[in-house]
Amino acid sequence: MGTLTDRLAILVLLLSTASNVCDSNICTSRGVTTCQQCLAVHPSCAWCSQEEFGKGTSGTSRCDLKENLLKEGCSAASLEFPSSTLTIQQDVPFSDKASGTAKDVTQIKPQKLQMTLRLGDAKRFTVSVKQVEDYPVDLYYLMDLSYSMNDDLARLVTLGNDLAAAMGKKTSNLRMGFGAFVDKTMSPYMYTFPPETISNPCYGIGVQCQAQFSFKNVLSLTEKVSRFTEEVRKQQISRNRDAPEGGFDAVMQAVVCKDKIGWRPDASHLLVFTTDAKTHIALDARIAGVVQPNDGQCHLGSDNLYNKSTVLDYPSLGLLTEKMTANNINLVFAVTNYVVPLYDEYSKLIPGTTVGTLSDDSGNVIQLIEQAYQKIHSKVELELLNVPEELNLSFNATCLGAVTPGIKSCTGLKIGDTVSNGSGIFSICPKEKSRTFTIKPFGFKDRLEVTVDFACGCECEAKAQANSSLCSKGNGTFECGVCQCHPGRLGPHCECSLQDYSPSDDANCIREPEGKICSGRGGCLCGQCSCHTNGFGRVWGKYCQCDDFNCLRFKGALCSDHGKCDCGVCKCDAGWKGENCNCTTRTDTCMSSTGFLCSSRGICDCGVCLCTQPGAYGATCEKCPTCPDACTLKKECVDCLHFKRGQYIKDDNCNRMCTDEIEVVDNLDCLTSDCTTFLSKHGVAKNCKLAQFLPLSCLSECQPGADILVVLLSVAGAILLLGLVGLLIWKLLVTIKDRREFAKFEEERAKAKWDTANNPLYKGATSTFTNVAYRGN
Ligand SMILES: *[C@@H]1O[C@H](CO)[C@@H](O)[C@H](O)[C@H]1NC(C)=O
Ligand SMILES: *[C@@H]1O[C@H](CO)[C@@H](O)[C@H](O)[C@H]1NC(C)=O
Ligand SMILES: *[C@@H]1O[C@H](CO)[C@@H](O)[C@H](O)[C@H]1NC(C)=O
Ligand SMILES: *[C@@H]1O[C@H](CO)[C@@H](O)[C@H](O)[C@H]1NC(C)=O
Ligand SMILES: *[C@@H]1O[C@H](CO)[C@@H](O)[C@H](O)[C@H]1NC(C)=O
Ligand SMILES: *[C@@H]1O[C@H](CO)[C@@H](O)[C@H](O)[C@H]1NC(C)=O
Ligand SMILES: *[C@@H]1O[C@H](CO)[C@@H](O)[C@H](O)[C@H]1NC(C)=O
Repeated sequence: MGTLTDRLAILVLLLSTASNVCDSNICTSRGVTTCQQCLAVHPSCAWCSQEEFGKGTSGTSRCDLKENLLKEGCSAASLEFPSSTLTIQQDVPFSDKASGTAKDVTQIKPQKLQMTLRLGDAKRFTVSVKQVEDYPVDLYYLMDLSYSMNDDLARLVTLGNDLAAAMGKKTSNLRMGFGAFVDKTMSPYMYTFPPETISNPCYGIGVQCQAQFSFKNVLSLTEKVSRFTEEVRKQQISRNRDAPEGGFDAVMQAVVCKDKIGWRPDASHLLVFTTDAKTHIALDARIAGVVQPNDGQCHLGSDNLYNKSTVLDYPSLGLLTEKMTANNINLVFAVTNYVVPLYDEYSKLIPGTTVGTLSDDSGNVIQLIEQAYQKIHSKVELELLNVPEELNLSFNATCLGAVTPGIKSCTGLKIGDTVSNGSGIFSICPKEKSRTFTIKPFGFKDRLEVTVDFACGCECEAKAQANSSLCSKGNGTFECGVCQCHPGRLGPHCECSLQDYSPSDDANCIREPEGKICSGRGGCLCGQCSCHTNGFGRVWGKYCQCDDFNCLRFKGALCSDHGKCDCGVCKCDAGWKGENCNCTTRTDTCMSSTGFLCSSRGICDCGVCLCTQPGAYGATCEKCPTCPDACTLKKECVDCLHFKRGQYIKDDNCNRMCTDEIEVVDNLDCLTSDCTTFLSKHGVAKNCKLAQFLPLSCLSECQPGADILVVLLSVAGAILLLGLVGLLIWKLLVTIKDRREFAKFEEERAKAKWDTANNPLYKGATSTFTNVAYRGN
């Protein structure tokens, strides 16, 4: 029968979405057949329970977004659309000061909440906690009276009044009490031989001390603080055998014996535990043959002594925690240096405890208690009690103005307030329709009671008609506008019976001639397809032709994980496009630093620049050493866009190539020289008074004027070059002149036909002189 009902469910779905299958949203695209299923799909889905809804138009779904249903003609009265609500039922304002009595003091706000939660819909609420000044304090001092604490006892006698005075500063309403512990009164924890040691365990070391006991409530909490010193003075030290003491037995009794100890319900409860030794824990008592677990009950007899110490085991940490929480006890471990690490570990396991290091003689116990008190009151931690499993509560605490998500405690506070914003959500319907749980700050009696109504069902379910005439004369239950057919019946009105099945109906299940019945992915029942679900997901559609897994994949992800597969087509999420939704519609990644999409040198495709300008590269095509400057680039565009001339006009691709707007400007002051030159060249800018034209982007893309250094260097370079050229020319001229003269000389020399003997310049080597005065003798 199980499979049959599954099929029925699918069939009804098909009928409701039959002709409109691919136009769906989250509400319509799921296979829901009942109101309850519909509401569980998503908090935005509503159900129309109107009887004649969607009769005229085919393909309307009863489960849809609220506005769609109203548009389709569903009356508001038949709309099932529970929404999460929050009602504050009790919200007494905070008290300012406790002023003596703590009755009617309010430290948490609000005090009562009622939430209606819809499946999967989170509802937020705010809890504020404010610690009241001068809140009453109960302080119970629990002391280890084993022999090593001898000096501590002596010291405490002297400290009693000071302690009362110190605590009196914190509150005007203080009660103090005193209790003592040693260990279980049995072997091996106790000296039993010789018999004298039973009444005087110090017999062996030759002194007098009191008989061993487990826990003794010496002084119940009292306002008469002087009694404290008085009672402590009367105390005598005791002695036990093994090193660990039975302190946890004493803590348990001090916590649970509310009446005997005298804890007031309206006060902070401080339990100070002093010891210098380790402590026995649960199961330790087995060596003494005690196997009965601690029962967490009060067993103080009329003599104020714990009378089950030899019957019950030591308490476990869990039991201690539970009892301390229930009784709002803040435990302070005041322990000597040697055991601090151990009690630190215990403290981590027992919430609401603090650890302080006690000096050897307990001399610093007052500071220690003060510190612990401070610490306890500077921390507010919310505790949750009886929260239903199905409900997921989360908190963000606002501590001193700072928000710490996921935390429900604040530390380091002064007396004052803290806020926690909580939120509740559930994803599984619990059995109970309504549950109440408690939120309380640890150690406070104040609490917030929250009642949650789980809105899992539909109101129309109450009006269901069994064996309704609307469902084929009583073959089904008419509920929330649809027939829930009895087993063996099918169809929107249960009109089809499985017994009446005839093979001729199969024709209705075939989409196209020669096609397979129900696209081969379903069975034909009473002329309607019942699609199989396969391992991947749902198959649907009138002929089972649709599914949610046969869509384009990109890198293995259906619709690139950026869309929904809907009857074979990816429906991309906002911000994505493309067949497989792998293309982002973002363009900010294409913006160059100058503010242009791909530096105006390319197109932005799926968030990535494709550079179209030859030579351009870089993530935003910003690099392009060979590109003409922006103005030159725009030249053609100014030509074609404004002057309707040039190459682009000839090629008829002006609009494709030029996306700039042409703007008319009144003067060129705003332009850089490059653009001015460019515009001048184009005959536009000769007269600045004329209206000017240029592409908008040219304005900001033009580079500013050349760098002054570059100018200087180029001027100097030019002068140098000119000088060099001058020198070269001069040199050239001189050379040419020389050549010419030499050539002339050569030529003349060739012309003169001189003999070597007749050299006109030649003079003979001998000279003849005539002496006119010589007379031949
Ligand atoms: C032990 O304490 C319980 C609880 O206070 C009391 O009822 C019982 O009588 C006491 N037993 C003895 C033996 O004193
Ligand atoms: C509860 O909420 C937290 C954070 O919102 C989440 O991590 C956790 O899985 C949820 N638990 C359940 C049971 O829904
Ligand atoms: C907490 O909730 C209150 C009101 O609900 C809001 O004003 C405040 O901003 C919230 N605080 C945080 C930290 O979310
Ligand atoms: C807590 O803070 C986180 C992140 O800051 C936010 O998403 C969440 O909604 C907050 N929860 C509440 C209950 O305010
Ligand atoms: C509906 O009909 C069935 C038999 O088909 C019967 O057993 C059942 O009692 C009827 N229920 C009501 C409420 O009439
Ligand atoms: C179911 O419907 C058939 C005809 O559609 C009718 O004859 C029969 O009585 C109905 N059964 C019940 C239990 O009402
Ligand atoms: C998107 O997918 C198509 C087809 O697989 C692929 O050609 C294209 O490169 C992808 N685009 C991106 C941005 O990954």
